[in-house]
Amino acid sequence: MAAAPEYRRNSIGDLRSQRWFAPDDLRSFGHRSRLRQMGYSAEEAEGRPVIAILNAWNDFNQCHTHFPQRVQEVKRGVWQAGGFPVEIPVLSLSEMFMKPTAMLYRNLLALETEEVLRSHPVDGAVLMGGCDKTVPGLMMGAISADLPAIFLPAGPMLAGRFRTERLGSGTDVWKYWAERQAGCLDACVWRHLEEGIARSAGTCMTMGTASTMAAIAETLGMTLPGAAAIPAVHSAHSRMAAACGRRIVDMVWEDLRPTKILTATAFDNAIVADMALAGSTNAIIHLLALAGRAGVSLPLERFDVISRTTPVIANLRPAGEFLMEDFYDAGGVPALLSRLRSLLSLDCLTVSGKTLGESIADAEVIDERVILPFDSPLSRAGGTFVLRGSLAPGGCVIKPTAAEARLLQHTGRAIVFDSYPDMKIRIDDPAEGIRADDILVLRNAGPIGAPGMPEWGMLPIPKPLLEQGVRDMVRISDARMSGTSYGTCVLHVAPEAALGGPLAVVQTGDSIRLDVEARRIDLLVDEAEVARRLDGWSPPSARYSRGYGRLFLDQTTQADHGCDFRFLERGGPTPEPDIF
Ligand code: FES
Repeated sequence: MAAAPEYRRNSIGDLRSQRWFAPDDLRSFGHRSRLRQMGYSAEEAEGRPVIAILNAWNDFNQCHTHFPQRVQEVKRGVWQAGGFPVEIPVLSLSEMFMKPTAMLYRNLLALETEEVLRSHPVDGAVLMGGCDKTVPGLMMGAISADLPAIFLPAGPMLAGRFRTERLGSGTDVWKYWAERQAGCLDACVWRHLEEGIARSAGTCMTMGTASTMAAIAETLGMTLPGAAAIPAVHSAHSRMAAACGRRIVDMVWEDLRPTKILTATAFDNAIVADMALAGSTNAIIHLLALAGRAGVSLPLERFDVISRTTPVIANLRPAGEFLMEDFYDAGGVPALLSRLRSLLSLDCLTVSGKTLGESIADAEVIDERVILPFDSPLSRAGGTFVLRGSLAPGGCVIKPTAAEARLLQHTGRAIVFDSYPDMKIRIDDPAEGIRADDILVLRNAGPIGAPGMPEWGMLPIPKPLLEQGVRDMVRISDARMSGTSYGTCVLHVAPEAALGGPLAVVQTGDSIRLDVEARRIDLLVDEAEVARRLDGWSPPSARYSRGYGRLFLDQTTQADHGCDFRFLERGGPTPEPDIF
């Protein structure tokens, strides 16, 4: 196994912050005097790496309620290592409370992250996030700023509890909601579920988007080993926070930047981990965006190529049985990766200064019920497949492990909903005559159509069918779905309907064929007829005419390109600020 390369060490004169503080001129006098105003002496604040602690916290982010204490612990580490810590609050994307969807604002956090790092006297950064979009948002910005940066995941919340049953975020909500809709669950039980499903600070504790993205951040090499799965309220999380503070100071001296870590092979490693975890389908969009920022070419097909050779060995909900606490106790990401050695490039560098191989050298699986042996997986192929066909020329995705196997090859009659409000009005109406073998189609729910591509892709099963015991149907949309969701849901159809993709002209009654094994999704309508319908099609009116929403509509790419803003993808160098 190759050892990590040695780096030339920066000296004080190389520190970026010295441009603000060192010169003997009027402007630097101003900067130094304002440090004094804040109560810092020259010994405390100057000639040391300045470490920005980017804290994606606010009172509306229920997953980050422990961050005020963690910031102090990161600061403790930074001081211990001889740095100067500065907390910078940034936009907190609360998956639960932000509407229409936190995804609309991921790029805003990325933009803010990049600009606060660039515009301040900062030498390195600790990125504190966890709730879904905060992970890619912070990392995308940090990659573009390309200062030494280390990610501190929020960690999962405690397992949920209802009587003797352990509850998983999202996954069990959908399950019990279906039972409630079917009339099998009374209001009292529903209230108890409400009180027991989210019992502490921390992110959703199933293998949803937050857990997937934290594991991806660790596999990419952007966290310290083992950081991704530590429960938010575990004392080990506090120790990890302090360790991040200490390590980032060394990273500044080593000039260890994200672009040295985020190579094409690091992204391949991350996809392996994602597939072995049966991770959230959202991870594909975020990885595409991260790769775009890092200047790494990552075609959508790469996910399918890696998926074909990567078994699902994490037995975690929604695909499996266990929760994130169990995953942590079983050894977490290092243990998972130790099982996947043969599929990984172990020479990739990590923020620890060691290679990935060195980081997992001592890892062992403690509980084989949670992290399965490589040769007895949950599924032989990975968690997410990429499909193409006449309905999705730009591609789309499905998570077969979360679907009923009987539906993975299915031809059915389309029932088309033109928008989410249309779906809400019609879905439960018995007059619609929806049958269990129909295919539910939702359009105008994509990056531009919704806009922001909300998690509407797990369309609800119509109530009359729920009452008959139906729990899964084929569903197709240009939306995303929560990583905690399940079902035979074909997602991220590109191009989306609002851009005139074929999804725009599907009609109720058309036949659609899904063949997951063949990676196909086809509209069984004559090409000439589709072309005729598209000739008569016009795009829906734009929802935003001004403000950030307008910027999003003008600049977002499609799902198969990561939904980043075009002007934020990697281009020429961005100049350092002049200091006059
Ligand atoms: Fe924050 Fe799920 S709501 S991670």
